[in-house]
Amino acid sequence: MSALPQARLASHYVVHLPEPDDFDFWRERARALVQCGVAPEHIAWVEPGGSGDLFAASAAPGDEHSLPVPPADARPVRANRRFVSLARNAALHSDPERFALLYRLLWRLQANSRMMEDKADPDVRRVEELDKNVRRDSHKMHAFVRFRLVETEDEEAGEHYIAWFEPEHHILRANAGFFMRRFANMRWSILTPRGSLHWDGTTMSEGPPAQRSDAPGGDPMEDLWRSYYASIFNPARLKIGAMLKEMPKKYWKNMPEAALIPELIAGAQTREASMVEKGALEFEERPETLAAIDKAIHACRKCPIGQLDNHAVMGEGPQDAALMIVGEQPGDQEDQAGRPFVGPAGQLLDAHLEQAGIDRRDAYVTNAVKHFKYVQRGKRRLHQNPGAKEIDTCRWWIESERALVQPKLVLALGASAARGMLGKTVSISKVRGSPIPLEDGSELWVTAHPSYLLRLEGAAREEQARRFDADLAAVRARLSELA
Ligand code: URA
Repeated sequence: MSALPQARLASHYVVHLPEPDDFDFWRERARALVQCGVAPEHIAWVEPGGSGDLFAASAAPGDEHSLPVPPADARPVRANRRFVSLARNAALHSDPERFALLYRLLWRLQANSRMMEDKADPDVRRVEELDKNVRRDSHKMHAFVRFRLVETEDEEAGEHYIAWFEPEHHILRANAGFFMRRFANMRWSILTPRGSLHWDGTTMSEGPPAQRSDAPGGDPMEDLWRSYYASIFNPARLKIGAMLKEMPKKYWKNMPEAALIPELIAGAQTREASMVEKGALEFEERPETLAAIDKAIHACRKCPIGQLDNHAVMGEGPQDAALMIVGEQPGDQEDQAGRPFVGPAGQLLDAHLEQAGIDRRDAYVTNAVKHFKYVQRGKRRLHQNPGAKEIDTCRWWIESERALVQPKLVLALGASAARGMLGKTVSISKVRGSPIPLEDGSELWVTAHPSYLLRLEGAAREEQARRFDADLAAVRARLSELA
């Protein structure tokens, strides 16, 4: 790092963020400040409306021209993927100290590139906590935004739906894409005390903060929500403590179906008894860590495959992987090794991934079905395809893994993996080669299973190998775009 004159180092810098969620702006300024050797304690990060600290208070917005400019020979700034993905989320937190924390982490990363692996470090723990809070807030927003139909003067413009939501953090803009995709054909507005979003079916625009009274009260849509909620309500999963954690009472006032909650709780025991009789009991709450999933799949006996003489095989790879690769189920060798894709199909997959320039170690590799399904023939255990019901039962686990890993792109190998992701059967030849949007904003790509290639010979195998390579190359290119 080039040395700077001492007077410069001793001075303080104030960075005014144009928006409280402008991570890219922070990143650009932070990089330059690191390259100029400005230590964290010499910078105040001030967001709009924020007071910052004492020395920040004396500086006016627009002062950035006084920030130092990195020398031409400055060293590139080091920031690993784990840092960037945590920082991007943590920047949306409402903690006024977040940008200072991020800068301190970035600064320290230059001296210790493995710092993010230190789980005991207070800065690392704090950024993980901020990331978790922001993800939880987004999850709540996805689950609890309720649109209400409003009367409009302009009949030509069509129906207009408005929702009121109170996020805890600056997550509104970051979630615009989710609502745009989910309600693409509706004209809607989401009003919040931090700002608003308006979608007219073609373009998204932003508006100022709103008040609860700007949003409408009830309407006929509420009956619809109520009957929908009553139909999906599963009394066997009712745990009042967990429900309050998942759906805190403060959201209830904006959710028409919440009016049903006391009634449903009262009827839960009777309904549960009848569901047990029908054998329809469901899974409990989603595990919160990969380790918890690993433990739970070993105990899972929800379908006949789990009752064979086999072991559950958990996914493996970095929890912050951008790519998740999903196979069908473990084979004989995977069952014995306790790891996915280590047998012949796995070796073929590794070779093709390498050729496409995808490092398997960067991906989270897992299976749609967690146990090996087989029939015993003498000493041999012969692979059997899982049935649709078995795949659907196991979706609980793959969905739980996906919720924790949050990959940007999922690659499903073969029809069973695609069904595990989508909950319905698709034809590989029809869907391969282009992305299928998933509800969380990530995308699914589908290709053949490597075992399919292993079963072919001669020209047919070469042809399929070429198609497989082309699919992997497209995934690789898309990952670079998404990075
Ligand atoms: N085939 C799969 O689908 N998954 C594995 O883990 C191994 C073989």
